[in-house]
Amino acid sequence: MSESTASTTRTRILFVCLGNICRSPLAEGAFLRLLAEEGLEDRFEVDSAGTGSWHVGERPDSRAQAVAQRHGVELPGVARQVTEADLERFDYIVAMDRENFRSLGRLKRREGARARVVLLRDFDPEGGDTDVPDPYYGGPGGFADVFEIVSRSSRGLLDHLREEA
Ligand code: 4NP
Repeated sequence: MSESTASTTRTRILFVCLGNICRSPLAEGAFLRLLAEEGLEDRFEVDSAGTGSWHVGERPDSRAQAVAQRHGVELPGVARQVTEADLERFDYIVAMDRENFRSLGRLKRREGARARVVLLRDFDPEGGDTDVPDPYYGGPGGFADVFEIVSRSSRGLLDHLREEA
C-alpha cells in the first residue's frame, strides 16, 4: 500500500490534557503499546496535545517518564498546544477530564469541526470517576494510578473503535 493510501485509511486519535506533559503522553504511550501488541500500528495515527501552552516544547514530566519506563512504554512526543486545525484533522479527540472536554468543546463550536470529542474514562471498564486525576502537584503514586487508568481505558477505547469499524 502506498503511503498516501495508508494515511487516508488511518483513524486519527489525539489525546488531550491540560499541560501535555503528564496524562495525555501516558495515554498516547499506552495506546501505542496496545496497537503494537495487537499489530494495529498501521491502522491508526496517534498524537497528544494540551489545552494550555505553558509546557510547549518540553518532554513529558520526569515522573511520567519513570512510570512509563517501568512498564516498557515509550513516550515519543514533546508538548504542543491543541489547535483549531486539530479539530478538523483528527477523527477522535480524547479528553482526560471534563475541563479539557469543555475547552475542546469551545474550540469545536468555533470551528464546526468533524472530530468527535470524547472523555477517555467513558471507556474505563471499571467505571468510576469521569476524570483522569491530574497528578502534576502530587507524588509519584499519582502517576502510577494514572498509568493504570489510561492503560485500561485505552483498551476500552480500542475495543469500542473496533466495534464501530
Ligand atoms: P497534565 O498535567 O495536564 O496531565 O499534563 C499538568 C501539567 C502541568 C500543569 C498542570 C497539569 N501546570 O499547571 O503547569
